[in-house]
Amino acid sequence: MRVLASAPAKIILFGEHSVVYGKPAIAAAIDLRTYVKAEFNENGRIRIEAKDIRTPGLTVSFSEDQIYFETDYGKAAEVLSYVREAINLVMEEAGQRKGVTVSITSQIPVGAGLGSSAAVAVATIGAVSRLFGLELDKSEIAKLGHKVELLVQGASSGIDPTVSAVGGFLYYQKGSFESLPVVELPIVVGYTGSSGSTKELVAKVRKNYEEMPEIIEPILNSMGKLVEKAREVILAEYDKEIKFKLLGTLMNINHGLLDALGVSTKSLSDLVYASREAGALGAKITGAGGGGCMYALAPGKQSEVATAIKIAGGMPMVTKISKEGLRIEEVEK
Ligand code: MEV
Repeated sequence: MRVLASAPAKIILFGEHSVVYGKPAIAAAIDLRTYVKAEFNENGRIRIEAKDIRTPGLTVSFSEDQIYFETDYGKAAEVLSYVREAINLVMEEAGQRKGVTVSITSQIPVGAGLGSSAAVAVATIGAVSRLFGLELDKSEIAKLGHKVELLVQGASSGIDPTVSAVGGFLYYQKGSFESLPVVELPIVVGYTGSSGSTKELVAKVRKNYEEMPEIIEPILNSMGKLVEKAREVILAEYDKEIKFKLLGTLMNINHGLLDALGVSTKSLSDLVYASREAGALGAKITGAGGGGCMYALAPGKQSEVATAIKIAGGMPMVTKISKEGLRIEEVEK
C-alpha cells in the first residue's frame, strides 16, 4: 500500500510579534504544498528520501579552475527531524512499529517563515497514519503536528501545524483557534532569500519593550486592534473590492508598526515598496521578519507585482489562499 498526502504552507496575514504578547493574530494556508509519499518496506527501518527540498542560498564560488556549489544542507537536515518525529508519533498512536519509507517533495522554501517544517510534519502524519489504517480527523492531526514541533524545537504556538492541517483562515489568540470564512486573496509572496532568527527577533522586541514600555506597548495595542478590525472586515458582508481595499490598508499599517518594532530589513521593505508601486493594495512582512518573506495583496496585478519583486531582488511566488489543509492525494492498494 502507498499513500500520497500533501499539506500547505502558511502566512501570517496580521498580528505577528504582537501575538507573543497575548494579542490575536490571523494566519492563512497558501497554495504552496509539501508532498509526502509513504509506504511500508521490508527491512523494518525508517527511510526518508528528500527528493526536492528548497533551501535558501545556493552559493556558487569560483577559483581559477574550479566552480564550487554550496547549499544549506543544515536547514534541509533539520526538516528531516520533523519527519522522523512525525513517523514515531504515528507509530506510537497506532501501537505498532514497522519499516516505512517516506519520500518528500516540496514547493515551500525551507527557513523562509512559511511553515515548511509544520507542512512536512502534517503531510507525514497524514500519509503515515493512513498507511497504518488510523482514522485521525484534522484537529487530531494538528495536535500531533504541534507535538512534533514541541519535540523538535522546544516551543511553539501551534499556529503553523494547525493552519497546515485545517487550511483556510485561522484566528488565533492565547492558544485557541477559530476558523474564519475564507476571502480569496490574490497574493504574491516575496522571499528575500535570507532567513531571520525568530528567537532573536522576538528577543529584540522584548528588550525594547522592557526598556521603554510606554512606547512599545501602544504599538502592540494598535496591532491587536488592527487584527480585530481585520477580523471584522473578513466577517462583514462587503463586496470583494471593498474588503480588498480595507485589508490592503490594514496590511500597510501593520507593516509600518512592524517596522517601528525593528523587525524589518532593507530588503523586506524594498520588496514591500516595490509591490505597492506596482499596484498592490497592501504589502507587509509575514512572519518574524529580519529576512524571510513579505506578501502583497494584488488583485488583477499579480504578474506586475511578481515582476517588481524580482527586479527588487526577491523571489516572487504567485499564489492564493488554500481553503484545504491536509489532503490525501492518492491511495494505492
Ligand atoms: C513568527 O512566525 C511569528 C512571531 O509572532 C513569533 C511567534 O508567534 O512565535 C514573530
